[in-house]
Amino acid sequence: MFNTTTYNNRRAKLADNVQAKGLLLFLGNIENPVNFEDNTYHFRQDSSFLYYFGIQQPHLAAIIDLDENKTIVFGDEMSIDAIVWMGRQETLKEKCAKAGVEETRPFADLYTYLKKAQSAQRPVHYLPPYQSVNKILLSDLLEVPIKQLSPSVPMIQAIVAQREIKEAQEIVEIEKALTVTNEMHLLAMRMSKAGVKEYEIVSAIQNVAGSHNCELAYPSIVTINGGILHNHYKMNTLQSGQLLLNDSGCETAMGYASDLTRTFPVDKKFTAEQRDLYNVVLASFEGAKAELREGTKFKNVHLKAAEILSQGLIDLGFMKGNAQDAVAAHAHTMFFQCGLGHMMGLDVHDMEDLGEQYVGYTADEPKETSIFGLKSLRLGKALKAGHVLTVEPGIYFIPELIEMWEADKKNAEFINYEKVKAFQHFGGIRIEDNFLIQADGYQHLGPELIKTVAEIEDYKAKF
Ligand code: GLY
Ligand code: MN
Ligand code: MN
Repeated sequence: MFNTTTYNNRRAKLADNVQAKGLLLFLGNIENPVNFEDNTYHFRQDSSFLYYFGIQQPHLAAIIDLDENKTIVFGDEMSIDAIVWMGRQETLKEKCAKAGVEETRPFADLYTYLKKAQSAQRPVHYLPPYQSVNKILLSDLLEVPIKQLSPSVPMIQAIVAQREIKEAQEIVEIEKALTVTNEMHLLAMRMSKAGVKEYEIVSAIQNVAGSHNCELAYPSIVTINGGILHNHYKMNTLQSGQLLLNDSGCETAMGYASDLTRTFPVDKKFTAEQRDLYNVVLASFEGAKAELREGTKFKNVHLKAAEILSQGLIDLGFMKGNAQDAVAAHAHTMFFQCGLGHMMGLDVHDMEDLGEQYVGYTADEPKETSIFGLKSLRLGKALKAGHVLTVEPGIYFIPELIEMWEADKKNAEFINYEKVKAFQHFGGIRIEDNFLIQADGYQHLGPELIKTVAEIEDYKAKF
C-alpha cells in the first residue's frame, strides 16, 4: 500500500470534485471460482477500489457518504473456521486503518445502509460492474433488474479525471513493472530459436514476472502469427525464417501495469523483407512519439503514425499514391486495423471498465464508431501532463481482410493488391512502449528496451 495520507487525500479530492450528492458505492472484487467454489482464479482487486482504499482482499465494499462526510468499509473479519483454514491474518480493521478508514461494518450491513439511504431519497452512485457477481450483487442491493442498472456518470467522470493524472509514486510503480518487463522481453529474444515452442517462451517469461513478485498484466501474446492482433494460441513451434511477436507486460504487487511489444526474428537476423517492413513500423513509432505533448489530440498522433506507415508502405510498393490522401480514405487500415495506443496505469487498458467515452474521448468529440480503424482507437482526446499511455503502431497482414477488400476493389487507387497478396501470410509486426505525457513533450517510461534492427541483431548474435 501507499501511505495513509495518499488514500485520505485521494478520497477527499474525489468528494470535493464529484458533481453529486448522496453515496459513492465501491464494490471490491471476489475470488472467482475456476471449477468449484474453493478453487479460485488469481484474485485481482478492482482498480478503483485499489486506488481509493488500497486493500487487496476479496469481498469488500465501501461507501463514501458525501452528505454525512464519512467513509465506511463493509466486510467480514475472519471467522474461526477461516483462521483454521488460512491462518490468522491482519484484521480488516487494521488494513482499513492503513487506508485511513476508521469505520468498518459487517458486509451484510451494506443492505441496511443502502435501504436507509434510498428511503431517504438519497442517490446511490456506483461504477459499471464488469464481474457477474457484482452485477448480481448490485441488482440485489438496489432491487433493480441487472439490465436497468444505471452507473453514475458524475462518479465516473470525477474518478477518470483523478486517476488519469498519475502521481509521482504511481510512475515509480509503473517503472518497476517496466524494469521487470524488459527482463521478460530480453529472455524471450534469447530463447527464440528454431524448434522452441511458443508456450515455452510464455512460461519462461511468466516465471520472470513471478520471480519479482509480479503477475502478468494480461495474458502474454507470444506468436509467430503476429498478424492476428490478440493471438493467444501458443502451441506453434518456431521455425527458421519466421518473426516472433511478443506482447507481454506485468503488474507490480501494488497493481500497476506495463505493456511492451517487440517483434524479432527467430534466427539471428531479419530477412531483407522483414527488415524493410520492420523499419516502416519503427519509423511510424518514432514519428508518433515525437508528437506526444500536452494539448495534442491522441487521434492526431494516431493519424500521424498512419501517415508515416502509409508513406513507408508506398516506398516499398505495397501502397501507392499520396500518403495523406491514403489516410484520409482510411486505406492504411488494410495494414493497421487498430488504434495507436491506450491509457495505462492500474489497468493495462486503464479504466476501460469505466467506459471509453469517458476515458478516451470527450462529449464534444466522441469516438467515430462507424469508421473501420478509428472505431478501435481507445484514446482520441487531447493529452494532459500526467497521462500515461502506450504507443504501438503495427503492420498486420490478414488474408481474409485482403481477400474481402480486393473483391470489393476497396481503395484500389491506394493499394497494390498484387504485392499485398504475395505477402498475405507474412504475419505482423508491432512495436510498443509506454510514455508519460509532459507539458512540452514526454518521458519514455522504464529502461529503454532494444528495438532497432541493429540492436536486435547484435543482441541475438550473442546467444
Ligand atoms: N497488450 C494489449 C495491448 O497492447 O493493448
Ligand atoms: Mn497496449
Ligand atoms: Mn501490448
